[in-house]
Amino acid sequence: MIEIKELSLSLSEKEILQDINITIKQGEICTLVGQSGSGKSVLMKTVEGLFTPQKGNIIIDGYDINKISRKQKNKVRRSLAMLFQGSALLDSLDVFQNVALPLVEHLDLNNTELIKKVSDCLQLVDLKHTLHIMPSQLSGGMKKRVALARAIILQPDYIIYDEPTTGLDLVTANEIIELIMMLFKEQKITPIIITHDFNCINKVKGRIIMLHDKRIIFDGSFEQFRNSDDKVIKKFQGRN
Ligand SMILES: Nc1ncnc2c1ncn2[C@@H]1O[C@H](COP(=O)(O)OP(=O)(O)O)[C@@H](O)[C@H]1O
Ligand SMILES: [Mg+2]
Repeated sequence: MIEIKELSLSLSEKEILQDINITIKQGEICTLVGQSGSGKSVLMKTVEGLFTPQKGNIIIDGYDINKISRKQKNKVRRSLAMLFQGSALLDSLDVFQNVALPLVEHLDLNNTELIKKVSDCLQLVDLKHTLHIMPSQLSGGMKKRVALARAIILQPDYIIYDEPTTGLDLVTANEIIELIMMLFKEQKITPIIITHDFNCINKVKGRIIMLHDKRIIFDGSFEQFRNSDDKVIKKFQGRN
């Protein structure tokens, strides 16, 4: 379970998030929505421990991430992966080296074990025979798959997907959504999807949490969201 309690955060003296309360259970599908600049990425980076809130707590599976030791924090962070918006692959490393990176950082494996784990993971995201290709030679969709393989290689319980379909054509976007759902059903990886893509929101049909003006203005089902009479929500959906 991920618990965000009474969280407020400012960056460069500007308040970005105010009194945020969210509880996400393992086994549910959440989509975090809101217009560009509303603080979705900052909120999830804070959950990842990349920003420290001025107020409030983030508790992951019982551990308050800002109160535990570095070693414990590392362990908790292994259970919570993040797929960054731009894929964030290292351009000077090939596909194998990129995907192997978390293994090299966290585990002590020999080369044969490394290759086996990386190959298995790439197979899971439908990428084979790409071990020694450089990121610059990959399409946007393939980069996402490689980043996804890297995100799941330590078998996390949760993944935060930051705008996983942005910038992809519809067919590729749908393939990525299917992969997210496959990882949820077959690998039991709970997805938290940041998006403003209605194709993605409509396909996933998960619980929807909406950020607006520093706060959560909606937390409910896809159906409730679709039928909401709230002015801001209707405008976001283009229903006004
Ligand atoms: N590292 C940072 N330092 C200062 N301000 C930031 C930083 N990152 C994001 N912001 C600001 O926080 C706000 C929310 O940004 P972000 O979470 O990226 O929005 P979203 O993901 O919803 O589009 C924006 O006003 C942005 O300029
Ligand atoms: Mg963002």
